[in-house]
Amino acid sequence: MFVYLNGKLVPEEKARVSVFDHGFLYGDGIYETMRAYKGIVFMVDEHIKRLFRSGDLIKLKINLSHEGIKKAIYNSLKKNNLKDAYIRLSISRGQGEIGLDPELCKKPTFVIIAKQFKEYPEELYLRGVKISIVKTRRNTPEALNPKIKSLNFLNNILAKIEAKEAGAYEAIMLNYKGYLTEGTITNIFFIKDNSLFTPSIEAGILDGITRDLIIRVAERKGIKVTEGLYTPENIYDADETFITNTTLEILPVIKIDKNVIGKGIPGSVTKDLHRSYKEEVERYLKTGKN
Ligand code: PDD
Repeated sequence: MFVYLNGKLVPEEKARVSVFDHGFLYGDGIYETMRAYKGIVFMVDEHIKRLFRSGDLIKLKINLSHEGIKKAIYNSLKKNNLKDAYIRLSISRGQGEIGLDPELCKKPTFVIIAKQFKEYPEELYLRGVKISIVKTRRNTPEALNPKIKSLNFLNNILAKIEAKEAGAYEAIMLNYKGYLTEGTITNIFFIKDNSLFTPSIEAGILDGITRDLIIRVAERKGIKVTEGLYTPENIYDADETFITNTTLEILPVIKIDKNVIGKGIPGSVTKDLHRSYKEEVERYLKTGKN
């Protein structure tokens, strides 16, 4: 595998970052995860835009243009002979003396890892998964805004550890007021009486690109979508629930801790939305648009 590192595609054994890199020392940096289907990076512009927004929010100046990043991604796919790929861009503050001051780092470290996309087991989609509402609360926007897709992932990792202990596929975190936010790497939706609900951005979440597309797809299908502040009781009472992200797309949830959701099998609205999502992917591959 060849890894993009600061402008060069190098064999993975040679893709090395300094122990003085502030990404390693402090988790000071940002990232994006993308998925390529048949050689096309799905919603690449939206992901790059969000990367720049994350950069702005931590005052990290990315030393490549939007088009430059796109080119680097496609070069990584080409060099690795990839069509269906998992792509991760990581940008850290860079190498610098020990100390928190970002000015200690002269230039960011820019890494792109592109590897063969490994399909998730079909069984997950057919049966649905169990998730857990964990004790770890989501970072508050005033402390560390979840809108920043940051390399600093401890909040999510602590939640993930709890989910694993509970035998759950994903953890859902509440905010400090007790409202649902999101998973460790996913957004969450639920369906009640054929309407779709999802925590609003104000709850303190990452505005997922998949989330945004699903909202648009649902509205186009005539499904009412409401973004708001919801409690665990609201979701326990749902007919259907699912989680979303770039790599998973839409994954049905059938149980939250001890609470069975709906009939305990993936619901028809969830399955229908997933079909429509896949159609959106196909359309994007043909037209570059949604
Ligand atoms: N995670 N919320 C969090 C905390 C996330 O990390 C992610 C994405 C999402 C969903 O965003 P999107 O639909 O744009 O992928 C929500 C990626 C997949 C990751 O960590 O690799």
